[in-house]
Amino acid sequence: MHASRPEVVYLDNNATTRVAPEVFEAMVPFLTEYYGNPSSAYSFGKLVEGHLIEARTKVAALLGCTPKEIIFTSCGTESDNMAIWSALQTSGKKHIVTTQVEHSAIMNQTDVLERMGFGVTRLPVQADGTLSVADVEKAIRDDTGVVSIMWANNETGVLFPVEEIASICKKKGVLFHTDAVQTPGKIDLRHVAKSDIDFLSMSGHKLHAPKGVGVLYVKKRTKVVPYVIGGGQERGKRGGTENVASIVGLGRAAELALETLADEQTRIRALRDRFEETLLKRLPNLYINGNREQRLPNTSNIAFDFVEAEAILLKLDLSGICASSGSACTTGSLDPSHVLSAMGLTPARARSCVRFSFSHYNTEAEIDHALAIIPPMIEGLRAMSPLNADHPDNFAYDVEAAREKEEKLMAATMAAINE
Ligand SMILES: Cc1ncc(COP(=O)(O)O)c(C=O)c1O
Repeated sequence: MHASRPEVVYLDNNATTRVAPEVFEAMVPFLTEYYGNPSSAYSFGKLVEGHLIEARTKVAALLGCTPKEIIFTSCGTESDNMAIWSALQTSGKKHIVTTQVEHSAIMNQTDVLERMGFGVTRLPVQADGTLSVADVEKAIRDDTGVVSIMWANNETGVLFPVEEIASICKKKGVLFHTDAVQTPGKIDLRHVAKSDIDFLSMSGHKLHAPKGVGVLYVKKRTKVVPYVIGGGQERGKRGGTENVASIVGLGRAAELALETLADEQTRIRALRDRFEETLLKRLPNLYINGNREQRLPNTSNIAFDFVEAEAILLKLDLSGICASSGSACTTGSLDPSHVLSAMGLTPARARSCVRFSFSHYNTEAEIDHALAIIPPMIEGLRAMSPLNADHPDNFAYDVEAAREKEEKLMAATMAAINE
């Protein structure tokens, strides 16, 4: 038995996306009739293998690369882990350069590698979330085995100049990986194969394909070793029987991502900009996080000073609006977002931030609905907020006092919501 789906306005498309109806339709035959193993020698298996080849070709078109440069994995996290592990194994080197704002797939893996004796340099970002290319260049050492820098930040949407950084790495003879999980369908990636990027990670569920399927692009002639060790699937580079239906779905989603790219760059961008402009006009003490030019067109990360994001999210939820604070993988943690902290936001402001992320499926009417609800909701929450009685200069206070005050605020708002 499953619960009936509530009516939702889904503004959390960086957490996951709905499976496109076209994608679902493409997948169904591989969950029903065509269940052969693509590695089997008989024609019932070969038929399925043919569809895997077709999907690989479609995903390759997204990156302008050859199908041989595409490895299917189980998720974006596996792709990230495989790239780093493989680069360290093939280079035989002991140092990693990355940033302080990566997804937990990279953050937690590099923490583990550090405990195993590898050196890790985690570069800071500027106040607007951007990264200095000069800092990356300076951080590369003789023993650096891999530089891993995300293409677009999942919390703020801020874009990093990864192609420029990849060229610097190439000159220095260092492998370069980018976590591009948030980019397909949002920015044009068809020049990737012409760049010096060695490894690039993607994830199906961020581009309207199902959860549980990912991609690692490995540039021609870049050496790679398996991370999931088993059979000879994926030309010996990733063991495990392929998730055929999801891979076929991902192939279809890749085609759709190319078709809807223009819509993302224009309609979705305009939708997001209208959302931000209206809130900025309507509410004081509101800040947009991240460089507004170098940003994904679909992402909006907003600080609502004097209010806890968790309270906003609970209220939004009651109105059927899905949004988030931080990454879905760290939701529930009381610590402020590591991304916003790295950008220098005070803990109080960082805990007031909500991420809204839009998709091809969002409509003007949904944005109007959200815009009708959010301003009075924030005003109501601020009216209850003990922080509001103070001036924003109070944000320079000591962290412990702030925490105590905010815990009281949180209890008060939760009690009001539960009334
Ligand atoms: C930037 C980034 N990298 C990696 C991942 C992990 O992808 P997956 O959920 O497919 O493991 C995510 C998912 O939120 C992400 O946003």
